[in-house]
Amino acid sequence: MSTSIAHGHLADIDRIAQVGQDRKRGGYSRHLWQAADLELREWFIQRAGDLNLDVETDRNGNIWAWWGPPGEGAVVTGSHLDSVPGGGAFDGPLGVISALEAVGRLQQAGVHPTKPFAILVFAEEEGSRFGVACLGSGLMTGKLDPARVLALSDADGITFADAAKHAGFSTSALGYDKEALSRIGVFIELHVEQGRGLIELGSPTALASSILAHGRWTLTFKGQGNHAGATLMADRDDPMVAAARAVLEIRDAALSFKGARATVGKISANPGGANVIASSVTMTLDARADSDESTRALVDDIVKRVGAKSVTEDSWSPEVRFDSDIATKLRKAIGEVPMLPSGAGHDAGVLADVAPTGMIFVRNPTGVSHAPEEFAELADCVAGIDALESVLRGLL
Ligand code: GLV
Ligand code: MN
Ligand code: MN
Repeated sequence: MSTSIAHGHLADIDRIAQVGQDRKRGGYSRHLWQAADLELREWFIQRAGDLNLDVETDRNGNIWAWWGPPGEGAVVTGSHLDSVPGGGAFDGPLGVISALEAVGRLQQAGVHPTKPFAILVFAEEEGSRFGVACLGSGLMTGKLDPARVLALSDADGITFADAAKHAGFSTSALGYDKEALSRIGVFIELHVEQGRGLIELGSPTALASSILAHGRWTLTFKGQGNHAGATLMADRDDPMVAAARAVLEIRDAALSFKGARATVGKISANPGGANVIASSVTMTLDARADSDESTRALVDDIVKRVGAKSVTEDSWSPEVRFDSDIATKLRKAIGEVPMLPSGAGHDAGVLADVAPTGMIFVRNPTGVSHAPEEFAELADCVAGIDALESVLRGLL
């Protein structure tokens, strides 16, 4: 099996294959308001234009492409175009591209929507640049405070407010968007599967049943900055050692909770010199489990074990159970498909308590995601588009 991107008539995957390639890490780094993100936004606007869709960007940077006049209670489908650092080609773009493909097919078949219909591209699902995931959907639904988001800063100390301004996006009306929400009558997100669920089930597609509760925290360990050569081992207060122990404790804590996952994906020593004992170390903690209570209990256990100087909660996403009526409608449109829980977070999860929401997963034969090896075979992508097209036909 090849992991190269050669998708024949799923040409959009190839068309955007050059955008945001990360030569250093491999894969893609496509982050909000940076060049690759802006280029992908332009690409999407053009593709929507080819389908005669009317494009507007909302107060929170999400892009809507309307087939027919905008209106309340619309059928909405879409996903995101940003990536994690060094991510794969499919997480996000597959949902956007499948939506464009499905609309193209429906138009060719002479379908005229009887309800408002839009493709929606959410801004910054991964939270890779500013640390908080699902910014576009979180702001729209009022789950994220705009003042907090404006002040978030990236690794170079650039705030969200400045980055948006530099990209020519006005943040004056950032936040809860009642009008946009009233337009979502139903939201369907197609997404590449991010684990091994569909490999094991032997099925090209599935519907999402739920999303694990999850959150992100920053842990800080303090010590005494000092000279790497002049300070005897016995005289050191090195926070890197405490941080290293913490990583092992975090792994052990997650192993002791059934089905839980905990990850330290980023660690940084301050000031960060090869011949300097750090004065502090910060690390991220991503923790997930199958209920809010068990995720909270896991994090409480971790905090007790690691003895960090400070622990800050950066984000919290409660467990999501997707609407069973929508799942029934989806099954009616596409036939019997398995249901899968998702270990990954999605904008669909943020919307799930404000609108009827469903998700379609497409098999990932590598079982790897958030890494360049993430993949989907053309035949499975086509099965996903077939499913989305049938679902949209049934809803329009
Ligand atoms: C998004 O993919 C997440 O689950 O972090
Ligand atoms: Mn995603
Ligand atoms: Mn992702």
